[in-house]
Amino acid sequence: MHNAALAACGINVGYTRLHVHADELAAAMRLLMPAGFLGVNVTLPHKTAVLPLLDSLDPHAGKLGAVNTVRVERDGTLRGFNTDGPGLVRAVAAEFGLDLRDAKVLILGAGGGAGRALATQCAIAGCARLFLVNRTHEKARDLAESLGVYTEARAVRWETAALATALREVDLIVNTTSLGLHADDPSPLPAGLLASPMRIFDTVYRRDGAPTPLVTAAREANIPAVDGLSLLLHQGELAFEHWFGQIAPLEAMRRALENA
Ligand code: ATR
Repeated sequence: MHNAALAACGINVGYTRLHVHADELAAAMRLLMPAGFLGVNVTLPHKTAVLPLLDSLDPHAGKLGAVNTVRVERDGTLRGFNTDGPGLVRAVAAEFGLDLRDAKVLILGAGGGAGRALATQCAIAGCARLFLVNRTHEKARDLAESLGVYTEARAVRWETAALATALREVDLIVNTTSLGLHADDPSPLPAGLLASPMRIFDTVYRRDGAPTPLVTAAREANIPAVDGLSLLLHQGELAFEHWFGQIAPLEAMRRALENA
């Protein structure tokens, strides 16, 4: 996606993938500037671990408590951004024509790192109501308490009756659990709970391009649903803008992702 964007813009640098273990992260970050990198994306499990290794933090990333994009500044310092949260806002608007500010959103897996960041993004964006669901309920409850300053946030137990009640109000479900990554994973929600007029945004996507179990279940119930490729695209679009200070060539990036 990024190499396609760089080629489309005639920027003569490359994007590459490096496998960095948790105990190598600090050393890897120190090497970015001397090795000539302009920036880097960090992914799981480094999105929170990288925070103390940065020289400055975009205030929005600070609120989300996670960083996925780092820019090497001209003076060699490292500045962290979060493009997952704003990427979700763009992806939901592009895929469903939905403004998160008007939406009642249910986050599945709100206790995980990604779930906390995306729930916080929805709350800061001023979504109408937030329902937080997590296998370990206490994590959802704690998050609901802390997000109450931004919007009405409720923790909902991961039980059929409680979910059914919440889902009657919900416009958008965002799955941030890891369920669906593997071919034999079950759908995180029983098919019987899926009914219009909700929409489903599964942040999971499968490398083989197959729909996730949640997306499959949603489509069988005639509910609009997309997988995480759209989030990948829009967080990448925003990362490109942070690194290069110019509009990202979205269609070139989309084509590269679809043909990967
Ligand atoms: P983190 O993002 O903090 O590293 P993770 O282990 O990747 O966490 O899990 C991400 C989310 O997926 C969490 O909300 C986790 O729920 P718990 O907080 O209860 O662990 C959720 N999750 C992982 N596997 C799950 C499963 N089989 N069923 C339901 N939720 C699951």
